[in-house]
Amino acid sequence: MHVFVTGGTGTIGSAVVPELVGHGHTVLALARSDASARTLEAAGAEVLRGSLADLDVLRTGAARTEGVISLAAGNDFSSAEAVARLVAEETAAVTVLGEALVGSDRPLVTVSGTPWISGRASVEADPLPTDGPVGGRARTVDALMALGSRGVRVSAVRLPRTVHDQGQGGFAGLLTGMARQSGISGYPGDGSQRWPAVHALDAAALFRLALESAPAGTAWHAVDDEGDAVRDIASVIGRRLGLPVGSRPTEEFGPFGPIFAMDQPSSSTYTREVLGWRPTHPHLLEDLELLEPTEA
Ligand SMILES: NC(=O)c1ccc[n+]([C@@H]2O[C@H](COP(=O)([O-])OP(=O)(O)OC[C@H]3O[C@@H](n4cnc5c(N)ncnc54)[C@H](OP(=O)(O)O)[C@@H]3O)[C@@H](O)[C@H]2O)c1
Repeated sequence: MHVFVTGGTGTIGSAVVPELVGHGHTVLALARSDASARTLEAAGAEVLRGSLADLDVLRTGAARTEGVISLAAGNDFSSAEAVARLVAEETAAVTVLGEALVGSDRPLVTVSGTPWISGRASVEADPLPTDGPVGGRARTVDALMALGSRGVRVSAVRLPRTVHDQGQGGFAGLLTGMARQSGISGYPGDGSQRWPAVHALDAAALFRLALESAPAGTAWHAVDDEGDAVRDIASVIGRRLGLPVGSRPTEEFGPFGPIFAMDQPSSSTYTREVLGWRPTHPHLLEDLELLEPTEA
């Protein structure tokens, strides 16, 4: 299949592009800079120059291909306003991509997060929480899912809090960045709350499987680790960086503080059974052992 990919240079996208190429697909990839264009060409993709805000370029990408994987999103989480801006930009972009595919029966694979359900691991049938700092994103995904009845084979890969590669990425990556800045590897509360995780290479395999075979309107969980205690994550980060480890006030974790503080394990049993997805790459706590005291 000829596939339009946005975000192909990110933690996840840089695993998705080779996964597609390695399984006989061809890739047209959005690039907003010369550096990104070079990276994508080196990975075997054809480049379409433009950014998420260039809605006509997105329409062109969707029109020139047989399916879309939408991964691009900003990563300025410094304030509630910054998060709202990036959610708005991503919403406008995926809405255009979805509308461009109406009536085509082509696949559109989009991203959301695994939901949190009090007292148990969330499953694929659980609804996305539509409140909180990234609630707008969930509402966007819900609206996209409705395109399943308008001739778009739309599906969502729900990502856990950390998608990692070489010890970097996701919420654990945010904790690492904060630890480097503050000199303490901190966690909110008592650190017993659990976050799910997956290696980017395993997540990439699930994006490919969803592209190839997920029915319209379905959601899948890219979860390998059902839940690592945040205290354990912070402990590995602290040891690797040579920093003390301890609880910090939730407010110190910025707009995501309340989410950081929540217990939110998630299961992928249904995804594994139905799509035959089998994660094989290192778990988060093993991958964090690759962190170095000074940034590469
Ligand atoms: N990593 C995780 O743990 C995790 C967990 C849950 C959900 N997610 C979601 O999964 C998606 C991919 O995550 P990721 O970790 O791979 O992200 P990432 O490493 O931050 O990469 C973001 C990608 O989006 C591109 N991008 C950002 N803003 C853009 C714009 N305005 N125009 C065009 N391209 C733009 C970047 O391109 P450049 O190379 O040009 O910067 C890059 O390819 C995001 O929606 C993210 O929120 C990630």
